[in-house]
Amino acid sequence: MARTTLTRSVLAAVSAAALFTLGACASDAGSGTGGGGGGGADDGVITLGFSQVGAESGWRAANTKSIQDTLTADNGFDLKFSDAQQKQENQIQAIRSYITQGVDVIAFSPVVETGWDAVLQEAKDAGIPVILTDRAVDSEDESLYESFIGSDFVKEGQMAGEWVVDQYDGEGYKVVELQGTTGAAPAIDRKEGFESAIEGSDLEIIDSQTGNFTRAEGKTVMEGFLNKHDDIDLVYAHNDDMGLGAIEAIEAAGMTPGEDIKIVTVDAVKDGMQALVDGKINYIVECNPLLGPDLAEIAKKVVAGEEVEKRIVVEDQAFDQEAAKEALPTREY
Ligand code: AHR
Repeated sequence: MARTTLTRSVLAAVSAAALFTLGACASDAGSGTGGGGGGGADDGVITLGFSQVGAESGWRAANTKSIQDTLTADNGFDLKFSDAQQKQENQIQAIRSYITQGVDVIAFSPVVETGWDAVLQEAKDAGIPVILTDRAVDSEDESLYESFIGSDFVKEGQMAGEWVVDQYDGEGYKVVELQGTTGAAPAIDRKEGFESAIEGSDLEIIDSQTGNFTRAEGKTVMEGFLNKHDDIDLVYAHNDDMGLGAIEAIEAAGMTPGEDIKIVTVDAVKDGMQALVDGKINYIVECNPLLGPDLAEIAKKVVAGEEVEKRIVVEDQAFDQEAAKEALPTREY
């Protein structure tokens, strides 16, 4: 089976109560500037406030590790890290807290695409540059952020759809789709890319619902699909975790995942790759979570006042079973 291999071309005041709440889900992963935040990087240390989406998936855990392992004191950073638990209001609160603290730069992975203009304008008014990682924002004003580092999610969906068409067009396959978080860039774009790739084929998406990028919700939604439809041929899951949840539901229903019902996912984290090797998943399009090094490089340039690329695309591979067997032993995540 053909395998695609590509390389990287890649003020608002906040109340004391809000700060207290934020502290409940935030950790200061750095050292260096001594507590109170950055403000100008005069000491050579860059204080970076990072608002993470959450801990919803294996991909997210690998992404967090990459950021925390790279933005270290040894590498010139004081990282302030907070987990938004998949809630936009928590991310907005975190960003406002970083503005109040006067960090040197803010980075975040937006849980959903829309609703960021006001808080980004607050950061801009405070003179604090913002870097987007992993997910884009849907804003007409590109001056609200310096750079966006992440994969091309439309292309990921297309790669998944092209493989499915290549394998199964002509067999009248009925497809169910496990979507990522509603309103999130990867959910919107992976759907769009997949649909465009299967257009004109005889594959039909008979049902599509969000599983919120989690294994548990992927399982629950798949159980619903199995109760509702007795003719499912293939699951297209927007990430490995939901595909792994679907495997559990399919097995519990007495069927064999990968055979009775084919499964195609996105991410290529270790658990997903193992399921591919085991024949329970049929194909995986990678989404590389190792964004820490690019973020560090861009943050240093932004703080130094250097020009940076507005869009840095992280290129991804795709894996069939043979490719997964080869890659899994040395897989970093
Ligand atoms: O934004 C990247 C997506 O978010 C990953 O594919 C998914 O696993 C994560 O939750």
